[in-house]
Amino acid sequence: MSFPTDRPRRLRRSEALRGLVRETQLSTHGLLYPMFACPGSKVRTAVSSMPGIYQQSPDQIVEECREVADLGIPGVILFGLPEHKDETGSEAASPKAAVQRSIEAIRKAELNLLVVTDVCLCEYTSHGHCGVIKDGEILNDPSLALLAEAALSHARAGADIVAPSDMMDGRVGAIRRKLDENNFPDVAILSYAAKYCSAFYGPFREAAQSAPQFGDRRSYQMDPANAREAMREVALDLEEGADIIMVKPALPYLDIIIRVRERFDVPVAAYNVSAEFSMVKAAAEKGWINEQRIVLEILTGIQRAGASIILTYHAKDAARWLEHC
Ligand code: PBG
Repeated sequence: MSFPTDRPRRLRRSEALRGLVRETQLSTHGLLYPMFACPGSKVRTAVSSMPGIYQQSPDQIVEECREVADLGIPGVILFGLPEHKDETGSEAASPKAAVQRSIEAIRKAELNLLVVTDVCLCEYTSHGHCGVIKDGEILNDPSLALLAEAALSHARAGADIVAPSDMMDGRVGAIRRKLDENNFPDVAILSYAAKYCSAFYGPFREAAQSAPQFGDRRSYQMDPANAREAMREVALDLEEGADIIMVKPALPYLDIIIRVRERFDVPVAAYNVSAEFSMVKAAAEKGWINEQRIVLEILTGIQRAGASIILTYHAKDAARWLEHC
C-alpha cells in the first residue's frame, strides 16, 4: 500500500492526534541532576564554563536540593571537591568530606530525593587520575580497594546509589563485595559501564578541578571508535553486580545506547555531559538557537534511543518546561 491510501500526515493534524501517537514521552521522572559539593559553608562559586552550575558547600547543596525536589526531579548525583588532594585521593573516603556531609545534610532535611554519588578518585588525587599511580602508570588492582572504601563511605552517609566512573577493571565487583560485607546489600550500583575517553568532559574538569596533571585517560576510558567493546564492558559490569548501566557521553554515542538497550534487560542510563550542556548554553547566549526546544529535543532523542534515566545539567530547566508542555 502507498500514497494516496497511505498518508502519515493524517496523524499529525492536531496536537491531540500527535499526542495520541507519540512514542516517547519525556518526563522529569527519569532525570538526575548533577551537583558539585565543596568544603566549607556558605560557599557558592559559579563554574564559568557551565552557566547556572555552582561548586557549593553542603549547606548550599541542601538548599538547591530543596528546589530540585520541588520541581519533581527524582534525584541528584553528587561530585566532590576535596580540601586537600594527595597521591591516593584519601579524602574520597573521608566521612568528613564534602560529598559525605552533603548526603547527611540532605538526609537530615528529609527531602524526597534519591541521592546518587559519583565514585572516583580523579577529583581527590594530586595527579588527577582515576586510580593510583606508580612510575607513571595508572594501576588497576590497587585502585579497587580505594574506590570500594569511597563507595562504602557514601553508603554510610546515606547514599541510595553509588556510581563508579573510574573505569578500572573489576571495580563494580569490588564495590558490591565491600557494600555487602558491611551490611549495605540494598545500596544499588549504577556503573558508568561504557564511558568513553571524551573531549566532552572539558567543562566538568573545571567544575570538579579534576584535569589529569600528566597524560590523558586513554589507558582506562574507552576508545570513541569502539562499539562492540561497549557490549563487553556492560556484560562484565552486570556479571559483577551492577544494577543500572550507563553510557557516557550521550549525544555522540546514541548508537551505543540503542545497542545496549536492545541487548540487556536492565535499566539504561545516559550522561548528557558537561560540554553537551555548555555548547547549548553558549549558542543560546548568542541567540543562535531556541534553548528550550533544543534541550527538550536532545533529551527526547536520548530517551528515544533507549535511556530511561538521563543525567543532565538541564534537569531543572527541563522540569520547568515539561510542566508547561
Ligand atoms: C570522573 C568523572 C568525569 C565525568 C563524570 N565523572 C570526568 C572524567 O572522566 O574526566 C564527566 C561528566 C561531565 O563531563 O559532565 N571520572
